[in-house]
Amino acid sequence: MTTAVHDLMSSPPVTCSAGAPLAEATSMMDAQQIGSVVITDGPAVVGILTERDLLRASAARVDPSVEPVRRWMTPDPDVVALDEEVGAAWAGLSHHHYRHLPVVDRGSLVGVVSIRDLLAVAQIRPTDEAGADVPRGLEGVVVAETSIGDVRGLQGFFHYRQYSATDLAARRSLEDVWQLLFDGALPDRAGASRFGSEVASLRTLPPGVAALLPAIASAGAPLDALRTVVSHLGAELGWRPGHDIGHEELRSQALRVCAAVPTMLAAVHRLSDGKAPVPPRDDLSHAANYLWMLTGEEAPEAYVRAIEQYLVLTLDHGFNASTFAARVIASTGADLAAAVVGAIGALSGPLHGGAPSRALDMLDAIGTPDRAEAWIRDAVARGDRIMGFGHRVYKTDDPRAVFLRRVARGLGGDLVDFAEEVERTTVGVLAEVKPGRRLYTNVEFFAGVVMHTCGIPRSMFTPTFAAGRVIGWCAHVMEQAGDNRLIRPAARYVGPPPPQPVPPG
Ligand SMILES: CC(C)(COP(=O)(O)OP(=O)(O)OC[C@H]1O[C@@H](n2cnc3c(N)ncnc32)[C@H](O)[C@@H]1OP(=O)(O)O)[C@@H](O)C(=O)NCCC(=O)NCCS
Repeated sequence: MTTAVHDLMSSPPVTCSAGAPLAEATSMMDAQQIGSVVITDGPAVVGILTERDLLRASAARVDPSVEPVRRWMTPDPDVVALDEEVGAAWAGLSHHHYRHLPVVDRGSLVGVVSIRDLLAVAQIRPTDEAGADVPRGLEGVVVAETSIGDVRGLQGFFHYRQYSATDLAARRSLEDVWQLLFDGALPDRAGASRFGSEVASLRTLPPGVAALLPAIASAGAPLDALRTVVSHLGAELGWRPGHDIGHEELRSQALRVCAAVPTMLAAVHRLSDGKAPVPPRDDLSHAANYLWMLTGEEAPEAYVRAIEQYLVLTLDHGFNASTFAARVIASTGADLAAAVVGAIGALSGPLHGGAPSRALDMLDAIGTPDRAEAWIRDAVARGDRIMGFGHRVYKTDDPRAVFLRRVARGLGGDLVDFAEEVERTTVGVLAEVKPGRRLYTNVEFFAGVVMHTCGIPRSMFTPTFAAGRVIGWCAHVMEQAGDNRLIRPAARYVGPPPPQPVPPG
């Protein structure tokens, strides 16, 4: 049976007139939590206004209470017909980078359809996933099959299993999503409680690891310490090569390391601060216990939920560098600790996991909103990367940044207002000086703001990322082990032609 656009569209659409002030359109989008409004003149579609247009307008410092929508909307946008079959609609529009399309029937607006919904039904591979040649950095090259999740960079969408990751962050606990990644299904209430108790009971570190912590903590940064401690955990618990064990043994090791990583990190952090570690509690959720172990105080519920949502949003994200590293190591049949240690190493680089504290350092360096534009222009002119902007896969809004911006707003505070101001300026400057590169805010920008607001020290930003991402790494290691083939690609040799005579020594 074929599906037509009218089966998927949202109706009635949210509309606004071209003469209305931008502020009116913004408050509609905020109230309905949508990313665009259709601009109409009677029943006819005359434009579309998106969050990105609002960012541009804001960067240009116009007064939204008087500035008309007309000046910032995309006029005469492409539309789809009510009866069009979704495959045909997708095929005709996939080369544009729209996120929403007005749906018309005999010239009149009747609804709005998201490109993501069209794509889901059309079941056509996103064009940004295809890769015939092998580009630098393996961009877009498909190197494995996975049913854990995926990222659709052009649509600004990512999912865990069959669920939108942002919907999961909005509606479920970290432990529920953890179980979804490990076992393939969301638990019912009884299953959730069983799983929650099981992982809470695994938080305490084995004695050998605990005894090692003071020396390791004094030696370096928390993420470096984590590498060493995870390695020791595997050795102390006698983890055998993945090649030699079955799924149940690997899964129980995976639960153990994921439950223990927050304990290791919090202990290392406190020891390096000259404080005694705070033992884990098994009556708190994963996120609440993490904040408890960091500070020795029970965190306010709003902070616990904000950090829990951050962790859910960053559990997994396609074939990012650390996940790929973990799978490559797992594919050799090495033990789980080896795969996690390798992944931590990959995550420690600033181009992958190391940006949230740098984004906050940048806000410090900028100091005040009036200095933002000059600071950003100078940095780009010097050839510097603006931390927290740009993404290898997302060439539109990073949905994690959109979600965390809302979380940050909910928490409130001066830093949040300042960050939003700098974000608007940066997006505007990058659009002007790097046209066509499609550089938008990535997860790391608001991650830093949220973590700082919830009392997590800057040195613990990337380690906190690792505390969640270890769950994704382990899910991938189990998937790799379940249907393994050694990952062993090739490189094109481009050095001087061999064989040359070897000069005498
Ligand atoms: C994440 C990142 C590594 C992805 O980069 P990529 O896909 O390899 O993109 P490229 O390096 O090919 O960059 C493409 C162009 O955009 C520019 N660019 C990309 N990110 C930029 C940034 N944050 N600031 C300024 N310019 C940037 C590059 O300079 C390049 O410009 P050019 O065409 O004039 O040479 C990159 O955007 C970046 O370094 N961002 C900052 C670090 C960060 O936030 N990391 C966290 C990621 S979640």
